[in-house]
Amino acid sequence: MKRDIKKILVTGALGQIGTELVTALRNKYGIENVIASDLRPNPSNRVAQEGPYEVLDVTKSDDIRRTIIKYDIDTIFHLAAILSAVGERDPHLCWNVNMNGTINVLDMGVRYELARVIVPSSIAVWGFGVPKYDVPQESVLKPSSMYGVTKVAGELLCDYYVNKFGLDCRGLRYPGIISSETLPGGGTTDYAVEIFYEAVKHNYYNCFLRSDTELPMMYMPDCIKATIDLAEANFENLKHHSDFNVASMTFTPQILADEIRKTLPDFKIDYNPDYRQKIADSWPASIDDSSARDEWNWNPAFNLSTMTKDMLEKLSAKHKAGLI
Ligand code: NAD
Ligand code: SER
Repeated sequence: MKRDIKKILVTGALGQIGTELVTALRNKYGIENVIASDLRPNPSNRVAQEGPYEVLDVTKSDDIRRTIIKYDIDTIFHLAAILSAVGERDPHLCWNVNMNGTINVLDMGVRYELARVIVPSSIAVWGFGVPKYDVPQESVLKPSSMYGVTKVAGELLCDYYVNKFGLDCRGLRYPGIISSETLPGGGTTDYAVEIFYEAVKHNYYNCFLRSDTELPMMYMPDCIKATIDLAEANFENLKHHSDFNVASMTFTPQILADEIRKTLPDFKIDYNPDYRQKIADSWPASIDDSSARDEWNWNPAFNLSTMTKDMLEKLSAKHKAGLI
């Protein structure tokens, strides 16, 4: 018998997705029922000011155990991770945080009979050798980045815990996430966020990817909706568990720059690809998310034009207020 979500722990809560997911979960489940956690003690971040916050290192299972007991946690959204660009510079750190962190969370999930564990995956699970467009749900997973290796292994580990221990574990393969609240933490798709900040502040961006690099992307409100919708879906309706493809939009830096110019006509961009180009080249341009649509009614709300308009409005307001 699957239990309801009542008391939530979010790991990696000070990150790009965590800061907005915590707020959304607190609005839904109540401030005191959502415990944010991350490495930094006493952060000035809103999620730590507005509700419960714990210092928790996911590589230390005792930190997780202590927090589960302290708050009687029944659900974990496990967001703590090292992303692709930082992971390529420090592969051992990436392996340690992403693999040991995830198995620690899963073990605690089994030990304390948690109702649910949500572990995001990524488009980084793919490598060269899959179709560039509309990559199907079931496809070859041969990533070339350490981050991708940990994401494939993480998906397999989660499915193993579902089958071996009956743990209700769910996950989805996020595309690059675009948002205006917290800067991204060191990924290859970060250009699609930085470009907006630089456009608003300097009308200029020096892009670290080639102009024609096509990648799948998603706006944060859709990312939050997908995460919560999957977490709340009826387990009996799920044929997949830890590896749902979710798609929203696909564009290149050049297409995004053209879209920004519809609002900021003088915006200029240069392209100086660095080591992240190789990572981006190994990822697909678009993915087929029909399993997510069929099994838990996934349907994104934003497209390139509505996302760009909203990002520019939000960041222009922040810039005028002197916040960025
Ligand atoms: P982020 O880098 O912005 O945040 C990660 C957080 O984890 C940081 O606040 C960091 O301090 C924390 N952290 C690092 N090591 C830790 C440790 N040992 N213990 C506890 N916390 C630790 O990442 P994000 O973008 O918010 O990503 C969240 C999840 O979504 C990750 O699993 C990531 O792989 C996945 N994802 C993100 C994107 C994206 O575009 N943002 C795309 C695909 C998948
Ligand atoms: N945005 C992430 C990254 O670039 C994709 O998982 O690492």
